[in-house]
Amino acid sequence: MTADPYARIAEWYDLLLNPVLDGVRRAVADVCRAEGLLRVLDACCGTGRQCAVLRGAGVACVGADFSPAMLGAARSATRVARPCERDASSGGGCVPPVIARPSGMSGSVPSAPASPPSLSPLLLPSLSLLRADARVLPFADNVFDAVVLSLALHEMPEPVGNAALAEALRVAPRVLLADYRLAERNLDLPAALFVHLPERLAGAEHYRNFRGFMARGGVEGLAHRTGLTILRRERLFGGAGALLLAERGSRAG
Ligand SMILES: C[S@@+](CC[C@H](N)C(=O)[O-])C[C@H]1O[C@@H](n2cnc3c(N)ncnc32)[C@H](O)[C@@H]1O
Repeated sequence: MTADPYARIAEWYDLLLNPVLDGVRRAVADVCRAEGLLRVLDACCGTGRQCAVLRGAGVACVGADFSPAMLGAARSATRVARPCERDASSGGGCVPPVIARPSGMSGSVPSAPASPPSLSPLLLPSLSLLRADARVLPFADNVFDAVVLSLALHEMPEPVGNAALAEALRVAPRVLLADYRLAERNLDLPAALFVHLPERLAGAEHYRNFRGFMARGGVEGLAHRTGLTILRRERLFGGAGALLLAERGSRAG
């Protein structure tokens, strides 16, 4: 992973996709609130929109991503800080606005620091966004209540997705997986077919990984193979996607 696959689209990502994806972000925030998951890592945070929505809902969120372009978009004050500032001015509790963390990370797979930081320093404004590979998160075990992996697993080769999921379950006991699922009934088919269009437009490698992910049963297949216990399930994208709240099952390592 040398070139940034999001370099060309990062600037346009929110404009094009927020109308579709904001429903997912609200669903994630609703589940966090309902389940008392108040310290959350968004491990492939992209432009940081999910973190902003979580913060607006009173959930502390740290965002991590390996794309410098997406993190650049996330660091723009209009995209990340505004919901937080609005809450703060109306008296609501809020993690301070995001400021970039000095990264010093050069390669595509950053190495974890010798002693992972505890959660409280991470909630300082200067540390709430960072560049990291989801397979190698620079956090101690179980330091978060939950890790969000939203619309990221389907674009990863299988070993990368498995490693990212295992790493998420190291730093938190629960995961929130928002991704594509197989159509369950005929009514789901139009949406399930439609999602091939944006996935195809995202490029050949992206589409190959998406098709592999779907051939292995989508997000439900991944949860099943990993032996996760699903605690909650919400439909997304007219049945073409699902939001799963899950934890390590008895089979999961
Ligand atoms: C389709 S975007 C989704 C972004 C965000 N979760 C959302 O819902 O808008 C996928 C994101 O996953 C990130 N990503 C993919 N593989 C990653 C990895 N191994 N480690 C960290 N981030 C990764 C990409 O850089 C990109 O920002």
